[in-house]
Amino acid sequence: THLQQADTLLAAMTLEEKAGQISQYFYLAGMSAQAEFVEAEVRSGRAGSLLFISDPAETNRLQRIAVEESRLGIPLLFGFDVIHGLRTIFPVPLGLAASWDPELVERVQGIAAREARAVGIHWAFAPMVDIARDPRWGRIVEGAGEDPYLGSQMAAAQVRGFQGDGIGTPDHIVAGPKHFLGYGAALGGRDYDEVNLSENELRNVYLPPFAAAVKAGAGNIMTSYVGTGGVPGAADRRLITDVLRGELGFEGFIVSDASSVVDLTTHGFAKDDLDAATRAIRAGLDMEMWFGLRFQEGMIPTPGVGAFATLPDAIRQGLVDEQRLDEAVRRVLLLKFRLGLFEQPYVDEGRAAKTLGLPEHREMARIAAERSAVLLRNIGSVLPLDRSAVRSIAVIGPLADDKQATLGPWAFAHDLEATVTLLEGMQRVAGSGVTVAYAPGVPVPTRVFPSPFAAMEQFVGDTSPQAALFDEEAEFSRAIELARTSDVVVLVLGEAADMNGEAASRSTLDLPGRQVELLEAVAATDTPVVLVLLSGRPLDLRRAIERTAAILVAWHPGSEGGLAVARVLFGEVAPGGKLPFSWPRSVGQVPLIYSHLRSHQPQTSMMRYWEEESTPLYPFGFGLTYGEVAYTNLCLHASAIGLDETLEIQVEVQNRSSRAIEEVAQLYLHQRYGRAARPVRELKAFQRVVLESGETRTLHFQLDAAARRYWSSAQNTSVLDASIFDVWVGGVSTASLHAEF
Ligand code: IFM
Repeated sequence: THLQQADTLLAAMTLEEKAGQISQYFYLAGMSAQAEFVEAEVRSGRAGSLLFISDPAETNRLQRIAVEESRLGIPLLFGFDVIHGLRTIFPVPLGLAASWDPELVERVQGIAAREARAVGIHWAFAPMVDIARDPRWGRIVEGAGEDPYLGSQMAAAQVRGFQGDGIGTPDHIVAGPKHFLGYGAALGGRDYDEVNLSENELRNVYLPPFAAAVKAGAGNIMTSYVGTGGVPGAADRRLITDVLRGELGFEGFIVSDASSVVDLTTHGFAKDDLDAATRAIRAGLDMEMWFGLRFQEGMIPTPGVGAFATLPDAIRQGLVDEQRLDEAVRRVLLLKFRLGLFEQPYVDEGRAAKTLGLPEHREMARIAAERSAVLLRNIGSVLPLDRSAVRSIAVIGPLADDKQATLGPWAFAHDLEATVTLLEGMQRVAGSGVTVAYAPGVPVPTRVFPSPFAAMEQFVGDTSPQAALFDEEAEFSRAIELARTSDVVVLVLGEAADMNGEAASRSTLDLPGRQVELLEAVAATDTPVVLVLLSGRPLDLRRAIERTAAILVAWHPGSEGGLAVARVLFGEVAPGGKLPFSWPRSVGQVPLIYSHLRSHQPQTSMMRYWEEESTPLYPFGFGLTYGEVAYTNLCLHASAIGLDETLEIQVEVQNRSSRAIEEVAQLYLHQRYGRAARPVRELKAFQRVVLESGETRTLHFQLDAAARRYWSSAQNTSVLDASIFDVWVGGVSTASLHAEF
């Protein structure tokens, strides 16, 4: 069996080879000293895994060193950030979550896996299943938003997509849900800042998506850079061993985030590398992800080993039990056997050309972008654009023809040239009778403090275009003139790709740069404005809302994003996405969640600030379509059920419009009293359905005991209470169709 094979190999390994097997290095091809250093580590059996390579000739070359030149010939495991596609880029994960379509998301990650495997990648550092309730945090774009139930559905779907029928499925890769645990709760939304989670939030909010990912069979979990309550994620024994392994029953291997074992010292937690490695491995960590560079004085990067290189010493000094080291190594070897790497360590280099960016992959990228789009506003039914009334369209805005912003962050192996921007999409879909003209108006907004990754991106093939020379005043006037002389303006605003993602937190949610100024001037022409937002977080729309006829949130929609959005604008397809977070009015409201507690004086919950409402601008689950949807006849099969029983619920949903639409029916629950106060509403089920014109469908939901179970801090365990429960079903979290049991 694979286990016996792993054990036989383990018995032949030196302590150095064992420590190496659980050491993963970044491979920065463009940085020759680091690359040479890592190659030497591979040759000597002191590196078991590499990350950041997406060229099949390169993966094979490095694999050959491991297999043919290292003493035991153990193949390397290649990891990569396959976050929303490899060559074919899909909408950013927050956008995928807005589709509320787990089946679609599973197919999307299945394609991402196929493309990744075709270049020799075995493992995705994805999905990111961190709950994010503060949109200032840049990494909100990588997850499924604020809700643990939606987050759990998306987590499981992505794991299934990456892994297929489980580890070893041909053309699939290992999924690595991250970052365990609570990374999204960084103080002030500042990336890498400290996290202080109550046990209530940890258990009821942040843990469920990981539980769902483990249940779906994820082969790996990545820990968080930061920790809850002063213990960094890579060394938190309670969380990774007691909770993740003990309670959730996780059987795969646990990797640290980049350099976070060495950083146990930076945090002021460990004394030195030896102490850091000792405490991480004893806590239950199985692999160290390591940058491969030490920063000497003056910030000069010098290649060097990670903290796990001290493990042989830690064993010899009796600080770490060798069985713990063996357990970690066994997990990694076992995975390599299960992936078939010992039989076939190499990738067929001809496969990449036959797999990457295939038309059917790009078609799925278009469909995913269409289903992700969320329509927030549509006054006077300006959308869908009517070709007989709209003869001239002004496409305006700095992001309308920005390929990088169309793709978004975490796209490294993409085909930038082949990215369809919104301008190109509009030109293709408009048809011959409609003119489409373009003016950027203002330059692409730039960060005030540059991304710390800007320097690194050159090593991973990022080819951000350099800002061209831009005559600001002339371009601004040209855009306004174009708006004035057109029938409608499609204004494309939002965030540049590097304004969200890692190390991309913000202190405001404003439209960056001169974009609001542009919007105001365009709107002043009185030509109707359709605002398309490209972004990875909600933005402050207070100055935009009254000036626009329609607002469509397109996220960073991916390789075919422009085509997808144009098809939605022209009504080739109706928008059906829904917000995966509560859209705040202003940054001062955050964090703002729909599933809050009633707390004190619930009658004042709408106005807890004296100058601002405390309700969101758009609630969680909100999204319009091209027509009216009505919910009626909510029926529960019983008025009372036993604690362990399941309640059957049905509802009718009707499309009252004269065209086919898509709708996401959502079911919310509230427990009126119990051992702990429970949120005013919690999402417990949803279904995305296609409704033909005039069609009425009966939808069935089941509410089992697990849906009513929660963690009670007072009891220090999960409980089920006898209580009165409210149920609401509708197309948004504020749905009013109600029943109780
Ligand atoms: O996968 C990422 C992680 O999310 C953040 N740090 C770096 C890792 C590898 O790129």
